[in-house]
Amino acid sequence: MSRALVTGGQGFIGGHLVRALLARGDEVTVLDLPSARGAALALHGLEREVELIEGDVADRAAVDRAMEGADAVFHLAARTLVGPAADDPLGTFRTNVEGTWTVLEAARSAAPGAVVVASSDKAYGPSDSLPYSEGDELRPAATYEGSKAAADVIARSYWDSWQLPVAVTRLANVYGGGDLNASRLVPEVASAFLSGRAPKIRSDGSPRRDFIHVSDAVGAYLAVEDVVVRGPGRGEALNAGTGTAHSVRELIDLIRDKAGSGLDPDYEGEGSPPGEIDEQCVDPSKLAGLTGWAAEVSLDDGIGEAVEWYRTHR
Ligand SMILES: NC(=O)c1ccc[n+]([C@@H]2O[C@H](COP(=O)([O-])OP(=O)(O)OC[C@H]3O[C@@H](n4cnc5c(N)ncnc54)[C@H](O)[C@@H]3O)[C@@H](O)[C@H]2O)c1
Repeated sequence: MSRALVTGGQGFIGGHLVRALLARGDEVTVLDLPSARGAALALHGLEREVELIEGDVADRAAVDRAMEGADAVFHLAARTLVGPAADDPLGTFRTNVEGTWTVLEAARSAAPGAVVVASSDKAYGPSDSLPYSEGDELRPAATYEGSKAAADVIARSYWDSWQLPVAVTRLANVYGGGDLNASRLVPEVASAFLSGRAPKIRSDGSPRRDFIHVSDAVGAYLAVEDVVVRGPGRGEALNAGTGTAHSVRELIDLIRDKAGSGLDPDYEGEGSPPGEIDEQCVDPSKLAGLTGWAAEVSLDDGIGEAVEWYRTHR
């Protein structure tokens, strides 16, 4: 039996990943903050199924303890909200960058068979040339973007410098049931329509994103782990997305349809909200070529699932 460590396993993607790892028969350790108690693991009913270590990902002793005996490490713990990250750059860099090098240093000692580090499509920063492909220069602008780009570069250097079997994932915008980050677009808009409120939108609806369902995101993590174990993924950055961008307005209209609401959203902004990228979309062909992975859930089905989840978990 394999043992996997998931940092940030109390988070949205982490919780779904933990569920998938348990389903394939792994033993799972989760490292997350004490303040996250009662989040994703409770939501998925998995609190008793995992070893939970409560601590900070930038605390080497906590990370060492969590990594003991791990065959695979999935490093997802991060400050993930763009606005709050900009308000606290030091705290963001401490978690997202120092936290990443702490995990990598611990892995250099513990020698797991695969380390998968969550970077993001945000690491590319604003670009006129879309979809992003892995060879593109990383040109982060906002704090969160910079923190993910730094973590991305540092992680890949551990393959070149130390032959640590590590890859980074650059996922597009992940959505689906179980995201407890109430300020993110899908949870916020779905919850508003379902409770008879018109959602307030911080943009004019024009920003465009590549939206990937969380089940496809989990599939991408497992595919990346596999290609690291087999060899060709080592030291690589790998995009995962659908390859198609949709406007925020299209997404909101779809959520409204699925929620059965007749309300009009209140578009409060002009263009993109401050500090956010106008258009993002990733080319997933490298990961597809290496592993056969492809996003399977259509936006229509995925938003349908998400809205039903928020309907039953209001
Ligand atoms: N959600 C997306 O659209 C998306 C897209 C691309 C990349 N990512 C990346 O994927 C990863 C997971 O994202 P998510 O959507 O599940 O985020 P999330 O915010 O739901 O989960 C992050 C988890 O990290 C934990 N955490 C934060 N600071 C910590 C610390 N100092 N020590 C230990 N744990 C800490 C949080 O408590 C939380 O449980 C992140 O690294 C994020 O940057 C997310």
